[in-house]
Formats: sequence, C-alpha cells, structure tokens
Amino acid sequence: MSNIRWGIIGTGRIAVTFAEALAGCEEAELYAVASRSEERAAAFAEKHGFSKAYGSYEQLAADPEVDIVYIATPMSSHYDDTLLCLRRGKHVLCEKAAAINSRELDDMITLAGEKNLFFMEAMWMKCRPVYLKAKEWVKRGSLGDIKCVKADFCNLVKYDPKDRLFAPECGGGALLDLAVYPLTLAVDFLGNYPCEIISSANIGRDGVDLSNSIMMRYQGGKYASINSGFQQPCRNGAAIIGTEGSIIFGEWFFCTCEAVLYDRDGNELERAAIPNEINGYEYEIYEAHRCIRAGLRESTLIPHSGTKAVMSIMDECRSQWDMYYPSER
Ligand SMILES: NC(=O)c1ccc[n+]([C@@H]2O[C@H](COP(=O)([O-])OP(=O)(O)OC[C@H]3O[C@@H](n4cnc5c(N)ncnc54)[C@H](OP(=O)(O)O)[C@@H]3O)[C@@H](O)[C@H]2O)c1
Repeated sequence: MSNIRWGIIGTGRIAVTFAEALAGCEEAELYAVASRSEERAAAFAEKHGFSKAYGSYEQLAADPEVDIVYIATPMSSHYDDTLLCLRRGKHVLCEKAAAINSRELDDMITLAGEKNLFFMEAMWMKCRPVYLKAKEWVKRGSLGDIKCVKADFCNLVKYDPKDRLFAPECGGGALLDLAVYPLTLAVDFLGNYPCEIISSANIGRDGVDLSNSIMMRYQGGKYASINSGFQQPCRNGAAIIGTEGSIIFGEWFFCTCEAVLYDRDGNELERAAIPNEINGYEYEIYEAHRCIRAGLRESTLIPHSGTKAVMSIMDECRSQWDMYYPSER
C-alpha cells in the first residue's frame, strides 16, 4: 500500500508538534509544507524532513502529489485555506476550532461533500485511547444515565496583541481556542442539542473573550458546566457523572493519558493509563488514514454533526456576549 502524502499549511506552534507526530506514523509521508514566506517553508521542511517547501498556500494546494492537507493556521484562515485545498481535490484535516462560525463550517462541509473528499476537524482528544476507553465504559452502562459533564480549560497567557489568541482578525478568544474542548466533551456525552445555554464572558480590550463560563441544560435534568480562559492557571480536570457512576479524567483532560471509572459510592472500579505512542497527535493521523483508505468522507470518531453542534453553541455564546469577528460585521 502506498504511503499517504501529507501537506501542512502554516508553520507555527502546532505545525511543529504535528510534524513530529507525522514523522513517527507508519504510512505517512512528510511530503510538503507551505508558508506565507519561502524562507519559513524551507526552514521547516529542512528541520522536519519534508520533501517540498512552498512559499504560498496556493502552490501546495496545486501540487498533484499531495493527498491530504493539515491546516495549521489561525481560526479566521481555516475557511479560505480549507476551501482552497478542497477545490484542488485534497482531503483536509483542519485544526480546531474548524471555523469561526457555523456559516463558514457549513460551506466547508458542503464543499467537501460535493467534491467527495474527506474533511475532519483535528479534535485529537476524541481519537485518543483513554477517551475511547471512557466511551467504552459509558457504552457498557457503567455510568447509568449521564446527568452532568464538568470540564475546564484555563491557561495563564501573557497578553501580547500580536498573538493570534488576542487578535479578533485571527478569530482570537478563549471560546474558540480553549472552550471548544470542554464543549466537545459535553456534546459528545450529553448530546448535540442543549435546550438552554447560559453564558458569560470577560471581553478584553481587543474585543475577544479572555475568559468565559458556559452552562448548558439538556432535557431530562442533565447539564454541562464549563469554564475557559487565558487569565488563570488551572488543573483542567473533567468529570462525567451519571446515576450509577462517574468518570474522572486526569489533569489537562483533553490530552491526559489517564481516566478512572468510579461507582456511585465513589469506589474505583477501573483505571485506564495509556501512554502516548508518540506525542498524542498520532491517533488523529491514524484516524485520517483509516478513513481515507476506507473511502470515508467523514470520521466516525469526529463526525461532522458533532463539529457543527459545538460550532452552533459557540455562535450562540458569542451572540449572548455581542462578540463578533471583523468578517462578521
Ligand atoms: N490541537 C492542538 O493541540 C492545538 C494546539 C495549538 C493550536 N491549535 C490550533 O492550531 C491552529 C494554529 O495555532 P498555533 O498555535 O500553531 O498558531 P501560530 O503559532 O500563531 O501559527 C499559525 C501559523 O499560521 C500561519 N498564518 C497564516 N495566516 C496568519 C495570520 N494572519 N496570522 C498569524 N499566522 C498566520 C503562520 O504560518 P506561515 O507564516 O508560515 O504561513 C503561522 O505560523 C489554531 O487553529 C489553533 O486553535 C491546536
């Protein structure tokens, strides 16, 4: 079987981590990288062992040898970069948050469908073995009826107006960067359609949220409670609590290698401790490979419906905060 030839668009922080995972994955060929700068592309290709370096995203998308493109640019660029690659017949693995709003995401998913190409949000958490173990516990009924998901993702980030995290024109803010993880967890375990969303945010001087708190109520007395932000260090735990038991993920729940299953009296029933094979990003790469080999257009682990549900909740939160990105005004 021939290798799958990867292209990467963008040479920032996550592109480096992803390239390190790609280098250790069987069947992955580190084929091409593109940057807005020829020098940065060449330096990245040299350092990480890519065969081709392009000084524009268009050039990479036009290369007929590229099978799939990993989009590692700021949120506000995902739409254009994804459409560019899909139009050129490439499968796409797009970083989180997949877009800045549902309108963009719908267009991206629609075009992928029209072109019969694979499209997946790089929500790596959902491909990780410990997460899949938690899903297995739930499927076999160990939690009974799930009543509550609690999760936080907070960081202490030094303010830098040039950092995409604080820049509205880059799709900045804690919601799209951090809350997307706990929201994905909540949606995966409670459902795509909360019946009520109550949220609040601290909006910084640049017009994006520095921290936020989200409460979602679901039918049947279920709820999710979520905090995220750039202003406080946090242990970033997560819990899924049901009538018969609970699952507690290790700290930094979205990338933890540990989860524990408890019964309803708090006795430990089972513990999953599964070290990464590489750096944790390999599992989303394996999933993309599996889907492409099987001719799937969306992942069963990260279905479009879940990505869309989270995006529509984020739209609703921003509308509650009157927070809009420049392209939405
Ligand atoms: N899965 C994860 O664990 C994880 C972790 C961090 C980030 N992410 C996601 O990955 C994406 C990139 O995050 P990052 O932290 O890697 O960002 P970053 O360090 O700022 O890098 C983004 C790269 O995108 C390119 N780019 C294109 N247009 C840009 C613009 N207008 N401003 C700045 N850069 C631009 C740049 O590459 P060139 O100049 O070479 O073109 C830049 O190096 C985001 O969607 C983020 O949410 C995911």
